[in-house]
Amino acid sequence: MSNGLRIAPSLLSADFARLGEEVRAVIEAGADLIHFDVMDNHYVPNLTVGPLVCQAIKPHASVPIDVHLMVKPVDALVPMFAQAGADIISFHPEASEHVDRTIQLIRSAGVKAGLVLNPATPLSVLDHVIDQLDLVLLMTVNPGFGGQSFIERMLPKIERARALVDAAIARTGRPIWLEVDGGVKRDNARRIAAAGADTLVAGSAVFGAGHYADAIAGIRSEARAGQAAPAEAVAA
Ligand code: DX5
Ligand code: ZN
Repeated sequence: MSNGLRIAPSLLSADFARLGEEVRAVIEAGADLIHFDVMDNHYVPNLTVGPLVCQAIKPHASVPIDVHLMVKPVDALVPMFAQAGADIISFHPEASEHVDRTIQLIRSAGVKAGLVLNPATPLSVLDHVIDQLDLVLLMTVNPGFGGQSFIERMLPKIERARALVDAAIARTGRPIWLEVDGGVKRDNARRIAAAGADTLVAGSAVFGAGHYADAIAGIRSEARAGQAAPAEAVAA
């Protein structure tokens, strides 16, 4: 079942000296969301940006800001990112002592809530919380760095997550997006969308390309083809 299609360029591969311009350029080039990777050198072995930078790009972002927290602990940063203009806040269950409480905290701040599953994290973490989520984010690399290779073994996991998300949508009548993050390129977008992802993060594949609009359009047309003909695309 298709649930729309969104392309979310990750600022991790943008030029950090010109972030506002980069945000405007990818939106002009067709980005549906801005993916904002927050790393703390504790939960993941890298360090990026915090709420001040989110606030600084907000006036440049005419599309939702999709904040991906790779931080531990999570809770203290939630109100700060809500205040800084985050539209979606996602976190890793391993980084919160009380996953349900963190989800409620995000929602009570008026922000959409997402849970992020690392490659080795089982889908069963969704069992008792999926009805509270707006987004399920599947990592297809281990978090911490841009430019890594897509882990092919994740394709069947995407398919299984799609079934869980569809069942939750049928139960609650609320939309839930299924996002995939890590190693997404034009040449695998068809298979990723065919497996059921409706929101594709792409960092190096967009910001590493000479022409952002061509890069986004290429990923989008491949993903659309995958959504249109899932079985054939998976076999291809
Ligand atoms: C990795 C980040 C990703 C990353 C994706 O920890 O969560 O969002 O920027 O970059 P690419 O698309 O280059 O794999
Ligand atoms: Zn990310």
